[in-house]
Amino acid sequence: MAKQDIISRKEIEIVINTFYEKVKVDDAIGYMFASVDWNAHLPVMYNFWDNALFYTGHYSGNPMEKHQKAHAANPMTADHFKRWLALFEATINELLVEKMPTFSRKEREV
Ligand code: HEM
Repeated sequence: MAKQDIISRKEIEIVINTFYEKVKVDDAIGYMFASVDWNAHLPVMYNFWDNALFYTGHYSGNPMEKHQKAHAANPMTADHFKRWLALFEATINELLVEKMPTFSRKEREV
């Protein structure tokens, strides 16, 4: 089914919040995020994604280093990664499928 493009920072925030609500309670990968400070992490993720999508320059971190540390604490396998991707895709399908637009006009203002 056709999907909407993400066109605003507000939409990124909704997608990311919805995604991590799923991640936190997920049986397979939730425990890997148990010690994350969400008040600090979520804004970093908004910046990461708005830089990835809109080239805003808001993110200049080092995800590889963070994930090496995360992996040292809780080893990540291919199955964990697949689960992360499945939750991400489920979030996109839930929020951005054309026939079920969740975002109001205000949220779609750039
Ligand atoms: C099994 C899959 C994954 C796990 C378990 C995982 C876990 C984590 C953890 C524990 C952190 C550290 C949070 C903190 O600072 O407290 C983190 C940070 C981050 N992750 Fe992941 N992650 C996964 C996949 C991904 C993927 C696929 C992406 C990108 C598409 C991603 C992007 C990031 C970014 C941008 C950060 C922040 C780095 C920074 O602080 O600058 N992660 N992740």
